[in-house]
Amino acid sequence: MTAHFQQRGDVAVLVPAAGSGVRLGPGAPKALRPLGGVPLLLHAVRRLAAASSVAVIVVAAPPADVAAVRDLLAPATAGLPLIVVPGGAHRQASVAAALAAVPAGPQIVLVHDAARALTPPDLVDSVAAAVRAGADAVIPVLPVVDTIKSVDADETVLATVDRSTLRAVQTPQGFRRDVLAAAHADAVDPHTDDAGLVEKLGVPVLCVPGSERALKITRPFDLVIAEHLLATEPATRTLPS
Ligand code: C5P
Repeated sequence: MTAHFQQRGDVAVLVPAAGSGVRLGPGAPKALRPLGGVPLLLHAVRRLAAASSVAVIVVAAPPADVAAVRDLLAPATAGLPLIVVPGGAHRQASVAAALAAVPAGPQIVLVHDAARALTPPDLVDSVAAAVRAGADAVIPVLPVVDTIKSVDADETVLATVDRSTLRAVQTPQGFRRDVLAAAHADAVDPHTDDAGLVEKLGVPVLCVPGSERALKITRPFDLVIAEHLLATEPATRTLPS
């Protein structure tokens, strides 16, 4: 196994994919909804497998679909080890279940939402490279383009937030393995991302440029945008079939 990591990459990627996807409307669990006829999760895993930094992929699947997800993804990992575990009741629990299943070896762990199905392999490698270069925690971000206001319970504006200090956060988020493990061991309330847990430890989190193509497919309109992105995707690397 050690020789394999040295040849192919040094990173374990956790893929929380156990959400129900209610905001996409009724149907299959979100990760298994089709985009261009292919389940979102399969799109995501193909792109992770095409990133040269990745050594092993651990997916947290809807508990009822673990075997089906393994069958779906096994041909798509370009020979990389694939581990599929049952996800938890919320995203953080699914990430914790996947983290517990990472084999000995990789000291860099990325966490990547299946819903960001079209994330380019280059973004995966750039997050991993920033951790390898010495950062404890790394997140890909985009500038915020809308004016943002905070409101009270009656939808009355309280303040206009200075957007130059805001960033929209994507995945994959990258961590030193021991830092991510400590953050999850310390977790009390569910957080929507793993960097939020790491911040609670007082560990600095570094921002690197994200990608418009890494959008999170959450609502039906996002699927329309994603269909267009799929049709215009640059063929920079060969994706596993
Ligand atoms: O719910 P949200 O859209 O923020 O989910 C982000 C990611 O977390 C998705 O890829 C989803 O499948 C995953 N998730 C999970 N387990 C849950 C809920 C969400 O793995 N129980």
